[in-house]
Amino acid sequence: MQSKHILITGGAGFIGSHVVRLFVTKYPDYQIVNLDKLTYAGNLENLKDIQDFPNYIFEKGDIVDADFITALFQKYNFDGVIHLAAESHVDRSITDPMSFVMTNVIGTVNLLNAARDAWKASGFEGKRFYHVSTDEVYGELHDPEEFFLETTSYDPRSPYSASKASSDHFVRAYHNTYKLPVVVSNCSNNYGPNHFPEKLIPLMINNIIHNFPLPVYGKGENVRDWLFVKDHARAIDVIYHNGVNGETYNIGGFNEWKNIDLVHLLCKIMDEKLGRPEGTSVKLITYVQDRAGHDLRYAIDANKLMKELGWEPSLQFEEGLASTVDWYLANTNWLKNVTSGDYLNYYESMYTNR
Ligand code: NAD
Ligand code: DAU
Repeated sequence: MQSKHILITGGAGFIGSHVVRLFVTKYPDYQIVNLDKLTYAGNLENLKDIQDFPNYIFEKGDIVDADFITALFQKYNFDGVIHLAAESHVDRSITDPMSFVMTNVIGTVNLLNAARDAWKASGFEGKRFYHVSTDEVYGELHDPEEFFLETTSYDPRSPYSASKASSDHFVRAYHNTYKLPVVVSNCSNNYGPNHFPEKLIPLMINNIIHNFPLPVYGKGENVRDWLFVKDHARAIDVIYHNGVNGETYNIGGFNEWKNIDLVHLLCKIMDEKLGRPEGTSVKLITYVQDRAGHDLRYAIDANKLMKELGWEPSLQFEEGLASTVDWYLANTNWLKNVTSGDYLNYYESMYTNR
């Protein structure tokens, strides 16, 4: 008899797969249902090692389909939801905002309705709806001394961040209006194994392997705060179990890098790992047209989470980056599989439609 039934959405994606693995292996008495539409970003290969665990179930489905979601809540008596399913790539949101509205906004509201309706009879006792969100909802920073706090006003500036901000607002509105027990976390840029190679770090790794150009947007001056994906999964575990209903927790690595410096570091690590003379990969750097509306700097203040719930990042960035490179070099088949088909069309259109 499982002590808790938890729905994790988007569990076949990058972060979701690390969260699913952590929960399935750490809590053998929980039943974990992974709901994923398996878009281009979802890949069950990410979960091969745990797919036969008795406490793991996969359900293929779309969170935009309200009837399907209602039926899923009837089929399983969920105690909690950890909601990660989303369209997650900023560049794609610039070319196709509507799919971000559908999944990130409508899909989230469908899940909120289903949770509210399934749980209200019990007075929400022991229930929890956890929304996994992003620091991009806070906009961009210019003052180098400034950090995003949980109290920072929302100022989303891309269609992606506008859709995530909207879903955050709905989650909090359901807490206020229907008393749905919710927690929200807003995290900085993740990196690590299973990261889809449209995002900066895995894209650069893949391109270096193949000696392709390394497209740096604008002047490469934009700053991101990087966190190892397993540290994000650990934070989600801590917040799911110990976070206070109605609260928001910022998650970040206190680890800011200018894009161009990060790409230089990656080139150095890759040259070493591939046995190429130092300076080989740097020559591949190509400055390309900037992303429309490109946010200058993100930086998270994660002190609330650290002080109140005792979480802290476990890995130094250089160590995490080197182990990430090792993972990609050991998993070239994974890379080959996800970079065929649709990905090639996307990659070409990125540079022809600008
Ligand atoms: P991802 O794109 O790698 O994975 C998203 C997953 O959601 C995929 O498995 C996809 O198949 C699934 N999905 C998409 N649309 C769906 C739908 N309509 N119905 C069901 N499943 C659907 O994303 P990620 O980088 O792992 O991000 C996961 C979550 O964390 C997102 O909500 C994102 O906004 C948030 N987040 C990401 C980062 C980051 O750096 N990647 C940082 C902070 C927050
Ligand atoms: O901050 C959290 C967010 O981080 C998440 O909510 C998003 O889901 C996630 O995709 C990520 O968004 P970014 O836009 O910051 O990540 P991305 O990897 O796309 O880009 C990182 C930086 O690198 C950004 O400044 C744009 C730049 N870049 C990106 C790509 C893909 C390049 O210079 N060249 C590239 O080819």
